[in-house]
Amino acid sequence: MTQFTLRPAVSDDASGINAIYNPFIRDSAATFETVEQSEAERRCWLEDHLGDPRYPVIIAADPESRILGFASASAFDPRAAYGTSVKVSAFVAPQGQGMGLGKALYKALFEVLCGADIHRAYALIVAPNPASVALHEGFGFAHVATLSEVGRKFGRFHDVMWFEKRL
Ligand SMILES: CC(C)(COP(=O)(O)OP(=O)(O)OC[C@H]1O[C@@H](n2cnc3c(N)ncnc32)[C@H](O)[C@@H]1OP(=O)(O)O)[C@@H](O)C(=O)NCCC(=O)NCCS
Repeated sequence: MTQFTLRPAVSDDASGINAIYNPFIRDSAATFETVEQSEAERRCWLEDHLGDPRYPVIIAADPESRILGFASASAFDPRAAYGTSVKVSAFVAPQGQGMGLGKALYKALFEVLCGADIHRAYALIVAPNPASVALHEGFGFAHVATLSEVGRKFGRFHDVMWFEKRL
């Protein structure tokens, strides 16, 4: 069992988050981003989130303070009427997957979201992704739609499953 602690992110976590997330950009269709984030871009992203209880970012770190994974909620859409909805996701380093970090990160994330003015949370899961589906179903998300071949990465089209949680 991997030992880890959870804490809210700070802006100095930019490079640690990128160390987890950029390999998924590079090597995986789990995110549809295709260009790795710079530290400055990630710091901006973090600063947009910090201080707004609707947009928590939770870090899981090992006993040496190395980041093992993170979960976040982001604006669903910039238009104001969507302000009560968020998109959520979690990314765990390959060596930490399947050991409960995703669940622990989401438990902490939803503790914050439950105290915020959020009515719906959405997860956009590139198919297939059984670990992510299990994680989201375990937190009460229901599959509401699949968009077929809505994105193309690494030269092939991918379906995206939309999951919804009512808060
Ligand atoms: C998806 C992800 C965040 C889940 O985090 P995790 O720490 O690996 O998952 P956990 O150990 O907390 O397990 C969560 C659930 O998924 C299940 N699970 C974990 N790995 C699995 C796998 N490979 N296949 C099927 N189910 C799996 C667990 O059994 C658990 O379900 P349960 O509560 O019904 O037992 C993580 O695997 C990951 O970062 N994957 C790559 C990036 C990614 O796809 N992110 C999601 C984008 S939407």
